[in-house]
Amino acid sequence: MCGIVGIINSNSLKNEAIDILKKLEYRGYDSAGISLFEKNRIKTIKSVGKISELEKKSKNLLDKNFTGIIGHTRWATHGIVNRNNAHPFSDENLTLVCNGIIENYMEIQKRYVDIPNNIQSDVEVSFYFLSYLLNKYKSPDEAIKTFLKIIKGNYAFVIYIKKNNSFYLLKNGSPISISHKDKSFYACSDSSILSFYHNRIYHLKDGDILKIDNDVVKRLNNNNKIIFEENSVSQNPYDKGKFQHYMLKEIYEQPKVLKETQQRYNSEFFLDFANKFQKLFDVNKLILVGCGTAYHACMIGEYYFNKFTNLDVSSELASELRYKNINTKQKTLYIFVSQSGETMDTLMALKYIKKYNKTSVIITNSLQSSMVREADVTIPTYALKEVGVASTKAFTCQVLSLANLSLEVAKMNKTISNSDYKKNLKILNTLPDKLKKLIKDFSPTAKYLAKKMSLVNSCYFLGRNISYPIALEGSLKLKEISYMHSEGFPGGEMKHGPIALIDKNTMTVCIAPNNELYEKSLSNAQEIIARNGKIIILSSAKRTKKGNTEMSVPSLPKENFIDTPFIYSIPLQLISYYFALNEGTDIDQPRNLAKSVTVE
Ligand code: F6R
Repeated sequence: MCGIVGIINSNSLKNEAIDILKKLEYRGYDSAGISLFEKNRIKTIKSVGKISELEKKSKNLLDKNFTGIIGHTRWATHGIVNRNNAHPFSDENLTLVCNGIIENYMEIQKRYVDIPNNIQSDVEVSFYFLSYLLNKYKSPDEAIKTFLKIIKGNYAFVIYIKKNNSFYLLKNGSPISISHKDKSFYACSDSSILSFYHNRIYHLKDGDILKIDNDVVKRLNNNNKIIFEENSVSQNPYDKGKFQHYMLKEIYEQPKVLKETQQRYNSEFFLDFANKFQKLFDVNKLILVGCGTAYHACMIGEYYFNKFTNLDVSSELASELRYKNINTKQKTLYIFVSQSGETMDTLMALKYIKKYNKTSVIITNSLQSSMVREADVTIPTYALKEVGVASTKAFTCQVLSLANLSLEVAKMNKTISNSDYKKNLKILNTLPDKLKKLIKDFSPTAKYLAKKMSLVNSCYFLGRNISYPIALEGSLKLKEISYMHSEGFPGGEMKHGPIALIDKNTMTVCIAPNNELYEKSLSNAQEIIARNGKIIILSSAKRTKKGNTEMSVPSLPKENFIDTPFIYSIPLQLISYYFALNEGTDIDQPRNLAKSVTVE
């Protein structure tokens, strides 16, 4: 994972690098570091913890005589969180930062370089290895080329070598882009951040070695021209406005971004769908693939396709798909879902099915991501940048995308009547206004329910049919930002084991839309009450009485099958947010997590 930055020729190297590292903190925040350099010296500062620590530590460091800087924010993979394992790794001749994993570092350590045994970091081994090559070869370019030939893994490096006063960028698997204006160059693992500085950007390709020398950028591995593309800045997602956290801001943004996404689907992507995509969907099997929250969106998509089309559909965790055999005889379309388009497990699953010549679609919020470059077709979501680590608006946009896709496929294959198609599309078109009101009306209830949750040690989420993945997502949201123990179950499974967990110290949230399964969900609730478990029922049904038990039900707007995931997920996001707020956790950057998981 991690985030990396490099800058050459800016009037404010240190401040600019720190500013970019703060924007990159979503990729990890275990430790951070910077190296300033000029042709006679390299100065490195590292710290444990967030970028604010690095900022404090480097406060008195003057950057005016330096020509460039590299920086890093770390999410620990190899080696514990400490100052030594923080990047950059540097000495008086060389400094480097890396995003990714060098898989053969142990072999390198054995075969090539004499390194102290206590070194834990794959990148520190790589640093020693490159130093060794720089001593062995006269030309730093040759050393870099040999380095790249020998190291294995998915990585992006930013490197400064004092010997020839040159700056190198290397890429294989992990993203890195470079932007420039006149003599100033910025490199970053997140291209969207570069658009705040320059509007001409180049995304490095796998195998690329770029060298910047005397203000000129060139490719070392071949003579292909480096073509910088135009990139425009749309809005500043890093401005929290009136909100205390990005997560709350992003929850409130959902009506707006869902509206934008739906409008663009109506007028662009899904227009004339059959003509554009008949061939793509000429398959007998559909497999939806993602990780974490994106996987929950896949599961919801599975219920949509199952309801509206006659396709055989299933969902797979990307991290597991790669170990499964691929049916080469079956005509299968794989639909990948990823907010970042960079999640390594999902990217690897995509590359894996491509080896079997399978066709793929990517639903993503990041149009410049690696997955977009790998997939056959891209369906964009227009959630705008999501900064909070816990996914909210990107998730609901993914669900919207899958809802539209299933309706269009159903219409094309004539498995939905024209009137049902129109009715469902209308529901999606009017959804943003319904959600705006829901967020406003439900917020006080969410605060109240969040207080009730502080009475328990564990929280369970139950749902049936399309509410089941909503329950899983509700549980994931709660545990990731509040650290409360939590699990999601299909309601019907409770009596097959999980009900043993219920006692007075547990809270169970029953997701009970007012549909044909409502009574069954209520029975689940009653079984829990009978075992002294505490209950919250989320439903659009007004008040509920089952047997002698009166159950309190915060009332939600009347749902339809297609908008159920939105109407029930958003209240769950709000409850988790307010509970975590009461717990005092770091909501936007919860412990042990990172926004973009670019390691396997
Ligand atoms: C949870 C969350 C993660 C991501 C997962 C996949 O709130 O955000 O579970 O959904 O890491 O990330 P993407 O969608 O970028 O592939």
